[in-house]
Amino acid sequence: MALAETEQLTKMMCGAALSRAVCTLGELGISDHIEAGVPQPVESLARLTNTHERSLYRLLRFTASYGVFLEVEDRKFDHTPLSAALRSDAAGTFRPAAQMFHHIFAAWDGLDHSVRTGESGCVKVYGEPLFDYIGHHLDLAPIFDAGMTAFHGHETAAMLDAYDFTGITTLADIGGGNGTLLAAVLGRYPQLRGILFDLGHVVGRARSGMQALGLDQRCSVIEGNFFESVPAGADAYLMRHIIHDWTDEQSIRILSNCRKVIPAHGRVLLVEFAVAGGNQASLGKDADMIMMAFPGGMERTEAEYQDLFEQSGFRLSKLTRTKSAVSVVEGRPAP
Ligand SMILES: C[S@@+](CC[C@H](N)C(=O)[O-])C[C@H]1O[C@@H](n2cnc3c(N)ncnc32)[C@H](O)[C@@H]1O
Repeated sequence: MALAETEQLTKMMCGAALSRAVCTLGELGISDHIEAGVPQPVESLARLTNTHERSLYRLLRFTASYGVFLEVEDRKFDHTPLSAALRSDAAGTFRPAAQMFHHIFAAWDGLDHSVRTGESGCVKVYGEPLFDYIGHHLDLAPIFDAGMTAFHGHETAAMLDAYDFTGITTLADIGGGNGTLLAAVLGRYPQLRGILFDLGHVVGRARSGMQALGLDQRCSVIEGNFFESVPAGADAYLMRHIIHDWTDEQSIRILSNCRKVIPAHGRVLLVEFAVAGGNQASLGKDADMIMMAFPGGMERTEAEYQDLFEQSGFRLSKLTRTKSAVSVVEGRPAP
């Protein structure tokens, strides 16, 4: 085999090292100990983070080779835009995203099981589905919520710029997590009312968040399980990165529960990657691997969303692309 191929394959197989290294930086909070423009010697970083100096140096030298930190002089590190984004106080901080993966990384060990059986890696590794596992390890739950905000927060403005919510009276955010997405939509549309719906252990944080933003009068926070039912009373049901967590059968159950309560003029709005076929790399295809190993769902094509809609009493009425990698897939009740 040619040197180029062996080196390329070796690099791909070492991809896990880069992922784990960045997650470890987030877990250890290394970025918090450097002010941009004030390089820090690894010796003091090791002291401040209670880590092994030589190993920390090797970690930083490695991540710096991918643009996460910059070694400015011997064993002194300064920020780059990527390392600064891992600071806890960065706008839209990515630290919780790194911490989230750090804590559930083991699910990747089940990827071969997923490919063989179609079951999620989580079930193989942790013995239960992802959201049950989080429900049984409540220390993980706020990290997961914050991780979602880090990964998907930037999609909110892109969605609001691309999709017009005018005409909606009450917007239900199903699986709305800590409520940051719904709060942003309510902020942009002052006449709109909101319903935030999520599992029992999540809604407490959402409720406090809405109160802190002064939105509790315009938004009810409801606890429940979307496989059983979703709240009535909204004319639009928003689900961002919900359907991608689930198999077709489970997704049809969620959508059918929306169909039971949606008015004839209502709409469902799925904010998801709409993956394209072909050989182009994309965030959607990366996320699809995560869906396979973690919750056991999948990123779908536009045609696959159309199928899901048809099997749950909707028709795909519009797909709106945004400046970010996600699209808004709109469904209307089929007559
Ligand atoms: C991938 S996160 C997406 C969160 C949020 N929509 C966002 O875009 O940041 C999935 C959400 O679905 C919620 N969830 C999972 N299973 C659920 C269920 N059976 N019923 C209601 N919510 C559920 C989780 O608690 C979590 O908040």
